[in-house]
Amino acid sequence: MCGIIGMIGANSVVPYILEGLRRLEYRGYDSAGISTLVKGVVNRRRAEGKLAKLEKKLKDKPLTGNIGIGHTRWATHGAPNLINAHPHVSGPVSVVHNGIIENHKKLRTDLVASGFVMETDTDTEVVAHLVKYYHDQGLSPEEIMRSIIERLNGAYALVIMIADYPGTLMAARKSSPLAIGYGNEAMFIGSDALALAPMTRRISYLEDGDWAIVGQDYSNIYNAENKQVERPINLTEVSGALIGKGKYRHFMDKEIHEQPEVIGYTLSAFYDPNSGRMKMPELPFDPTLLPKLTIIAAGTSYYAGMVAKYWLEGLARLPVEVDIASEFRYRNSVLPKGGAALFISQSGESLDTLMALRHAREVEQHIISLVNVSESTIARESDIVLKTLAGPEISVASTKAFTTQLVVLLSLAVDWAHKRNFLNKKVSATIMTELSRLPITMAEVLADQGRWKACAHELALAKDVIYLGRGLNFPIALEGALKLKELSYIHAEGYAAGEMKHGPIALLEEGMPVVMVAPYDEWFEKTASNLKEALARGARVILLSDKEGIKRLDDEPAWVFEMPKVHPLIAPILYSLPVQLIAYHTANEKGTDVDQPRNLAKSVTVE
Ligand code: M6R
Repeated sequence: MCGIIGMIGANSVVPYILEGLRRLEYRGYDSAGISTLVKGVVNRRRAEGKLAKLEKKLKDKPLTGNIGIGHTRWATHGAPNLINAHPHVSGPVSVVHNGIIENHKKLRTDLVASGFVMETDTDTEVVAHLVKYYHDQGLSPEEIMRSIIERLNGAYALVIMIADYPGTLMAARKSSPLAIGYGNEAMFIGSDALALAPMTRRISYLEDGDWAIVGQDYSNIYNAENKQVERPINLTEVSGALIGKGKYRHFMDKEIHEQPEVIGYTLSAFYDPNSGRMKMPELPFDPTLLPKLTIIAAGTSYYAGMVAKYWLEGLARLPVEVDIASEFRYRNSVLPKGGAALFISQSGESLDTLMALRHAREVEQHIISLVNVSESTIARESDIVLKTLAGPEISVASTKAFTTQLVVLLSLAVDWAHKRNFLNKKVSATIMTELSRLPITMAEVLADQGRWKACAHELALAKDVIYLGRGLNFPIALEGALKLKELSYIHAEGYAAGEMKHGPIALLEEGMPVVMVAPYDEWFEKTASNLKEALARGARVILLSDKEGIKRLDDEPAWVFEMPKVHPLIAPILYSLPVQLIAYHTANEKGTDVDQPRNLAKSVTVE
């Protein structure tokens, strides 16, 4: 799960490869490396850790060359150290790889038997040796590609450079994305359009199983059957502009604050407040006849799917199943004829979600996706694409993508509820009008963060934190726990409030923080009882509620945060903010790497 790039041009490629790698760091930051060819010799610089370390190395010991490949790594096989950093080399061969070579052990044994010496613990090294093996037999680049592809199992996007071919890069993709960029007197290969956008807007996406031979002014693309094919060249809409933090200390802080604005944009793409009309895309099926919707996603996007289940079942009376992508794919689930599957993904590249999508297509479901990156693989493989207009989300922790996903999903639920005759015009209008006011309400919550910081100061000392929520706010409790874990490395668990007494209550002890996501709604009285149960066991309760909820309590939690009153259906979107703020400020208190937490990557492109 890494970012890869290759370039062949008239001038030094290193500054361009570095720029591409900067834009690919969201795919991993365990190590980075570049190889170039100078006078027929491979030159390589690698560094453990973030790209900045490689940049420093390059300052001390510059690299030149008009052909080169680069890599930013998220470790799968082998520790995140220098020896395992890509590019991997074998004599004149240099390789960068994103994915997992599943049969690497067998290939390793075969190659060792042929006299190759393994230097790393990675699965990728076998590719470098395999290329050298066929190169030594006198095969041409095309023949080498056909031969190695026959022997590789698993997922890969590869860029390969051989010193004896200083005018040629070789590339291949299976399950991991790869794009070719057409520049002026230069050609590029990269994991996505984002990496290539500063260099060129003319992008061609390789299809699954494709491989290519790329020269300075051409690309020959072949499909999985080794037939030469044309792939369309599109003008990417991805901006090549550098995305900065502006006045904010972290991208996450910036992205949290962008939410009122991007929620406004996203909503205006699906709803016209003047006419009161929904603006949903045409569907290839009739939602009134839909037997079941299966929602599939990972991480935070999965929690958005969980909230959507409450909305779609409650409002549209549509049976909905929500599944974790990595589970769904191999569960042999029962999907009805004529059913639809909705895939939610910020990046549109999560491999678990993509594989689940391909499985759903095989079993003849209508494929809908909800993505933030509109040129992503998941979007390109869907029948209908719903887009969140959150703009680029750089921080690894998802914030604005999540809340905009929720806005689209609620709009969809209202639209389908109306079409399925379960919601009259008046109630639909009330929900959508309240949703239109959400940006203003959110801005109020974000205005003063003094008390969130004070609370985070205390939370930063905790070893374990429990998050509780009920109904629509149960997924927000899960999301709160995930955000705290990934940002501050504090152990946190989210539970359905009513489930606490069935086991997790044993964890409660004097002083343990319990965050309760509890707007005043039809379930509030029950949640208030769970709050009492926690207080009775000495927990330090952090209550997120509104005026009405707080008024009804006769207890005194340690921290009470009064949230503005909103329609109960909209509360999960608004209450996403405090759980983001708590995690963000706690991470700051602990001094962790907010935008790039350890062991994580923004886009998870391995299964
Ligand atoms: O790009 P996706 O929405 O498919 O990503 C899914 C998860 O990897 C992602 O939401 C992850 O859980 C975030 N780091 C959470 O903040």
